[in-house]
Amino acid sequence: MINRRKFIRNSAITAAAVPLLNSQVLAAWAQEKGLKDLYKGDFFIGAAINGRSLTTPDFVNILKKDFSSITAENEFKWSVINPSEGEWRFDFPDQFVKFGQDNDMFMQGHCLVWHSQVPRSLFVDESGNQVTKEALLKKMQVHISTLVDRYKGKIQGWDVVNESITPEDGWRRSQWYNIIGPEFMDHAFNLAHEADPSAHLIYNDYNMDNPKKVQFVVEMIRDFKKKGVPIHGIGMQAHYHLDEPDINVIENSMKAFIAEGMKVHWTELDIDVLPAAGARTSEISTNAEYQDALNPYTEGLPKEIDDKLTKRYEDLFKLLLKYKDDVMRVTTWGISDDTSWKNGFPVRGRTNYPLLFDRQHQPKNCYKAIAALKS
Ligand code: GLA
Repeated sequence: MINRRKFIRNSAITAAAVPLLNSQVLAAWAQEKGLKDLYKGDFFIGAAINGRSLTTPDFVNILKKDFSSITAENEFKWSVINPSEGEWRFDFPDQFVKFGQDNDMFMQGHCLVWHSQVPRSLFVDESGNQVTKEALLKKMQVHISTLVDRYKGKIQGWDVVNESITPEDGWRRSQWYNIIGPEFMDHAFNLAHEADPSAHLIYNDYNMDNPKKVQFVVEMIRDFKKKGVPIHGIGMQAHYHLDEPDINVIENSMKAFIAEGMKVHWTELDIDVLPAAGARTSEISTNAEYQDALNPYTEGLPKEIDDKLTKRYEDLFKLLLKYKDDVMRVTTWGISDDTSWKNGFPVRGRTNYPLLFDRQHQPKNCYKAIAALKS
């Protein structure tokens, strides 16, 4: 049982500091089972990780104890892994796969085709002119086959396409869409399937609570089925807030995808507790100017807000459990609050509290609440 002792040693907390910690939280952490064991047989509990996660003892311990799935935050994105034609950076991806295999984890590759974080040279030829449809399809084919083939049978799931639909207009007018047309989607899924026929392939997007967007995705799935394009699941990014979206709306989206025979993944779960800076969206190009009023919890999270955060996590996990037969995985976007992208998005320099572990890498009350649901 003393995970507790091991935990304290590894996270460099002094004995004197221990009594200051919430004893219930520590007790939950100290139980023999981590979240991955508590939820075994329900769905995978995942975390998005980066290089630091695998070299920082606290993070390694947390990953081994609590998580049964990993996704790389950035290192499989086109501009990072394949920054120019023929150039591949497999160092971290190989370490990621080894760590996942050593710890018997479900690994999700993120992501094969996206409009963001791609090399500038992707859409232009040597003279700077836009590439032809044929040339871009060839680049897609080389990228997908090289990557999926390298990790065939090891990375079990792929986010084949990320964020290609907007709630307003249906297909996002990305370079992929403009140069190839909407069938770039079919090509991407077909290529991934050819490279690894046993891989679980999903479409991933944010704001999957928006009914128009959900309907568009449902129609896309039906069209894929008609054409025989392989798709096995839908990734709802789940960048949520304390009060939005409404849990019933999230449930409706899950039902709609499940009705189409899809497995549901929550791929990037975090819960933003800070005041909204304009319309809430996870559109990556959004940013708003810093104001102190938008950053109220620099000295710690007031109990009232922490209680709301805990309740929100609990409600969301109850919902996941309700649909556990069709939910394959929930992944938090990061491990602990200090490393979350939500400290910098959509306003830079804020102190946010979106994840299950705090800035000292201790389990939070929300961790305890979701552990308690299965204890
Ligand atoms: C989107 C992407 C992720 C990541 C986050 C921000 O949700 O899918 O890969 O870039 O934005 O960190």
